[in-house]
Amino acid sequence: MLDRTESEDKMPHLLGVEWAPLNIPLARRLQTLGALHFFFITLFTPVLVLTVPFYMLYTVLWPLIFLYGLWMIYDWNSPKKGAYMSNWFQRQRIHSWYANYFPVKLHTTSDMPEEHNYLIGYHPHGIISMAAFINFATNGTGILDTLPRIRFHLCTLVGQFWTPWRREWGLLHGMIDCSRESIKHVLEHEKKGKAVVLVVGGAEEALDAHPGCHILTLKKRKGFVKIALQTGAQLVPCYSFGENDIFNQAENPKGSTIRQFQTIMKRVLGFSPPAFYGRGVFNYTFGLLPFRKPINTVLGAPISVTKTVNPTQEQIDTLHQTYMDRLHELFEEHKTKYDVSPTTQLVIN
Ligand SMILES: *[C@@H]1O[C@H](CO)[C@@H](O)[C@H](O)[C@H]1NC(C)=O
Ligand SMILES: *[C@@H]1O[C@H](CO)[C@@H](O)[C@H](O)[C@H]1NC(C)=O
Repeated sequence: MLDRTESEDKMPHLLGVEWAPLNIPLARRLQTLGALHFFFITLFTPVLVLTVPFYMLYTVLWPLIFLYGLWMIYDWNSPKKGAYMSNWFQRQRIHSWYANYFPVKLHTTSDMPEEHNYLIGYHPHGIISMAAFINFATNGTGILDTLPRIRFHLCTLVGQFWTPWRREWGLLHGMIDCSRESIKHVLEHEKKGKAVVLVVGGAEEALDAHPGCHILTLKKRKGFVKIALQTGAQLVPCYSFGENDIFNQAENPKGSTIRQFQTIMKRVLGFSPPAFYGRGVFNYTFGLLPFRKPINTVLGAPISVTKTVNPTQEQIDTLHQTYMDRLHELFEEHKTKYDVSPTTQLVIN
């Protein structure tokens, strides 16, 4: 018989797989539950809601499908009309459990007065912009208390709103689609105190989301700067240290076959699923759950923007340069606090 400490020691590495120990405190179990909840909603729900309804059509439950269809037609434009945020949903405990799983922390560096609107650029994209969701679409890190007078809308791909049931889940968390029309709808609203969070680098940046890397796709992305000028929304740079560390991704350096394939996929589909993996529920070696690595999201100071209905290319370029400079400064100022070595540089492509 092994004694207790020895068996604890042995357990996790049996057969080359690092198994989860059995004696985990409740708090940690709840955190894993939070991770599973998110996994279920984002990856499993689409499979479920795109298959089960076809089956239901052949049962007495078919009127439900019919009614949902009517609702979806009626509600189709909500992702472009500012969604319908519910603080009740955002405050659910499951979100703070999930935030503590990593843990994710939000650090503000300046006040955000409610007499302005804001366009927040979130970097880096990571595999799925995990901390963007936790920080800005939920109260997982306490944003309802930190910036109580600002209403945050996280942008996501238009196609994310095509999945029944999950679309409502997103809308209740204040999420909107990332079209120009949708962002402008929020930022042009009479009532100020709105913030749109846009993950500027998108699918291209996701392909560079390797642990320890800080590579952004930003040099040629100027559309968001133009929207800021047109609406007079202040631009806010935001950097999440650790966002790239929570999943591993298969090596895909620029020029490699896999990268070329991914680039073609992206052109055709509009997105390219990165080949990523994390940990499992019962073993820590392989699975689709993210690793427990800290993420520190730093929200920079707003850059003031003068509303310009028809901005010239020069005005856009100047503001875009200012934005990149501020983001760079933000990275430099905070990197060593959050486990980035002093020699690591931010790469902006
Ligand atoms: C938001 O989250 C913070 C931190 O978890 C918590 O202290 C606060 O009570 C929450 N606010 C609301 C309105 O639920
Ligand atoms: C670890 O667990 C996951 C599921 O949680 C499974 O898919 C994977 O195959 C397991 N890894 C090994 C090496 O057994």
